[in-house]
Amino acid sequence: MSESLRELLVELEQFGQENDAAIVDRPRRMLNITRDTGEFLAVLTQATNAQRVLEIGTSNGYSTLWLAQAAQKIGGHVMTIEQAEFKLELAAKNFERSGLSEVITQLCGEASGLIESMPDANADLIFLDSKRSEYVHWWPTIKRILRRGGLLVVDNATSHADEMAAFMALVSADADVATCIVPVGNGQFLATRNRVH
Ligand SMILES: C[S@@+](CC[C@H](N)C(=O)[O-])C[C@H]1O[C@@H](n2cnc3c(N)ncnc32)[C@H](O)[C@@H]1O
Repeated sequence: MSESLRELLVELEQFGQENDAAIVDRPRRMLNITRDTGEFLAVLTQATNAQRVLEIGTSNGYSTLWLAQAAQKIGGHVMTIEQAEFKLELAAKNFERSGLSEVITQLCGEASGLIESMPDANADLIFLDSKRSEYVHWWPTIKRILRRGGLLVVDNATSHADEMAAFMALVSADADVATCIVPVGNGQFLATRNRVH
């Protein structure tokens, strides 16, 4: 990782912490993943050779940068979805500063409609960090667009275990996937689609 990207990530960590400590209104908060979650996502992206990464929940792009710098090393690409316009703009500026804009595509809008229009088996790795109450409804579509052998990573498995319970139970009960929880950051729920049905 370049020194300038390292500095940008540190700057965004400080900005996120200060912003979220000062602001009560949830939509105005950055709600970024932790640094160790970023490192974990980067290793997963590289190790699984995830060429097509989809992120749902960009915020100002902190997690996207971790995914994108890993994707760039393997010739991959990150598509990231965000509905809040001011966050899209913040993220676009951060992507420009990072020098990683070429490997990132920003999709603007409500995630349900955007993911529904995506082709089957279109993603090698999906990082889900968005509106938790929607995850159960999104699961059939997420499963459809995740290729066989692909990996789903979902943040907040332990920090918001109650809100995540129904989703994690639904996915874990699916015989076509294998799941686990990894105690990194706010807890990562991992699910991989079986390679053979
Ligand atoms: C937890 S934050 C994402 C943080 C980001 N992954 C990071 O670590 O830097 C969740 C984001 O999802 C966005 N969001 C929530 N519901 C959404 C929806 N239905 N469609 C698209 N974006 C949504 C919010 O605006 C918010 O920016």
